[in-house]
Amino acid sequence: MAESMKGLKRSCRCGELSAANIGQTVTVMGWVQKQRNKGGIIFVDLRDRAGILQVVFEESECGAENFAKAEKLRSEFVAAVVGTVVRREGAVNENLSTGEIEVRASQVRILSEAETPPFPVEEGSKTKEELRLKYRYLDLRRPDLQRNLILRSKITNVIRSFMSDEGFLEIETPILNKSTPEGARDYLVPSRIHPGCFYALPQSPQIFKQLLMCSGYDRYFQIAKCFRDEDLRADRQPEFTQVDLEMSFVDVDDVIDVTERMVQRVCKEAIGLDVELPLPRMTWKEAMDRFGSDKPDTRFGMELVDVSKLVADCGFGVFTSALEAGGSVRGINVKGQAGMPRKKIDALVDYAKGCGAKGLAYLCVQPDGSYKSSFAKFLSAEQLASLVQAMGGEAGDLLLFAADRDKIVWNVLGALRCELAESLGLVDHDKFNFLWVTQFPQLEWSDEENRYVAMHHPFTMPMDEDLELLDTDPGAVRAKAYDIVLNGVELGGGSVRIFQDDVQEKMFEVLGFTRQQAYDRFGFLLNAFKYGVPPHAGLAIGLDRFVMLLVKAGSIREVIAFPKVKDASCLMSNAPDVVDQAQLDELFLEVKPQKEEQA
Ligand code: AMO
Ligand code: AMP
Repeated sequence: MAESMKGLKRSCRCGELSAANIGQTVTVMGWVQKQRNKGGIIFVDLRDRAGILQVVFEESECGAENFAKAEKLRSEFVAAVVGTVVRREGAVNENLSTGEIEVRASQVRILSEAETPPFPVEEGSKTKEELRLKYRYLDLRRPDLQRNLILRSKITNVIRSFMSDEGFLEIETPILNKSTPEGARDYLVPSRIHPGCFYALPQSPQIFKQLLMCSGYDRYFQIAKCFRDEDLRADRQPEFTQVDLEMSFVDVDDVIDVTERMVQRVCKEAIGLDVELPLPRMTWKEAMDRFGSDKPDTRFGMELVDVSKLVADCGFGVFTSALEAGGSVRGINVKGQAGMPRKKIDALVDYAKGCGAKGLAYLCVQPDGSYKSSFAKFLSAEQLASLVQAMGGEAGDLLLFAADRDKIVWNVLGALRCELAESLGLVDHDKFNFLWVTQFPQLEWSDEENRYVAMHHPFTMPMDEDLELLDTDPGAVRAKAYDIVLNGVELGGGSVRIFQDDVQEKMFEVLGFTRQQAYDRFGFLLNAFKYGVPPHAGLAIGLDRFVMLLVKAGSIREVIAFPKVKDASCLMSNAPDVVDQAQLDELFLEVKPQKEEQA
């Protein structure tokens, strides 16, 4: 039977007590981590979000009634204890903040009993994630998750105070919207009052924050929920949180400056990390050429080398035909791995194929200087020597080459480089390598859609010196767009926006929208621009990713209280779920029977 806490008031959290409190009478409340009955004496570890406290019951001190209650305590019971803080009689527990002390109980109340939990509530749980997510409310009691969420709360506080100090206004934008053009699939919400019409949940507050600039708010920020119906990965959720900002009368450097100072402040206050400013910057082209990625992980080397010129007239058809088709041949040097067993090299080839390569050519520089290779026989001795030299190859090195269109070569070697560095233990996990990637291409050719698509979004401003190329060579136009990258993860991104009618119209034209289509979708923004629009720019940081990287979690699920799993469902609540016919009728909706192959 649960007791009430009437007459008792919690005086502090369990984990907040220390040797400084010795001699004090305290009232603590929390969950029983563990109860050990040693006959005449009972030890109870009581846990709350601040930590674990050892409570000791002896009948001579607490009386028979309280002792009997202490005997009943089981894991996850909720209890209130009144007692005195004393120096621990047994050995000091170095692992606990309260390790030097214990509380001698004079009174206990069982506030709530608990069934045996489906898994032990403990730090570093080995329980399968599916089970933990089904009982997320129990999982969230674990100290590791509590630390993550406490830090997340601290980080949002730091951000709010920093942004406010910098003159940013926190303004909320609507969740029920017309669709925004961020490129992912929208989540739709049917309208009851407008049968057949749908709201879209925001993929980001993009259009609204630009409208706020038109309205003169000049510096806006929001910690904003965003929704994207896309395939989930370790660093993607269908709903996630952005630290979103927009500024007027600014250019690239202003946004970068304020963002990196915010990041610096967060790192310092959240985890005591000193980040040196300004952060390094790299153009997109340099990032791709050196790291094969627009979010380069610079914690290790193994950079890409373009060897196209050196192999242009070799006898290896794989290389020459890729070059003839306008592609390139590039390689990476896996230092000291010439002895890698054939089986492992074959696994790398399969990995490369999984990334879209047709194959992967390799060359091992043997300790005696000879080569073991899948293609050496097609090259002359001089060609081989200059190839090895260009790669910085020494005896003992494994050289890997990909030949294809640039995009594929970058993709394959960029991914291989990260995969190899991780598996060979080359990544220093204590490093926090931030950098900016700038000057992204404005447009990307889509084979699927047979047209150019915006690499960032259609409101991104081209670089001043590339504006003219919009007519002649759209693929070569670079944008005033920038991403902030941390340890190989895209932390955030943004751009300077187009604010001139003629440039915006040209952009829509290049993207294949008619004027009518553009007005149908974003007419309210284009109209707003007719009434006086300041030059403006902004950016959004993925808050979940930022927290994940700061706490070194393997997935953003570890820093989100109630995350979804890969198929976008919630294992705890079973969302999404079917709804009553009455609800559908009210919305004038009919659910099509699923085709058999879909089911
Ligand atoms: P972008 O689409 O690059 O830019 O998003 C900004 C940042 O949001 C995070 N992010 C995600 N995090 C978790 N799960 C997801 N599914 C997910 N998708 C994105 C990333 C990303 O860098 N409106 C523009 C910003 C601007 O131009 O101002 C935008 O949304 O960390
Ligand atoms: P093949 O001519 O397909 O037998 O390939 C000969 C060697 O070249 C094998 O080691 C392949 O893995 C490799 N290879 C094939 N295609 C490519 C490519 N596009 N880039 C690099 N190596 C390749």
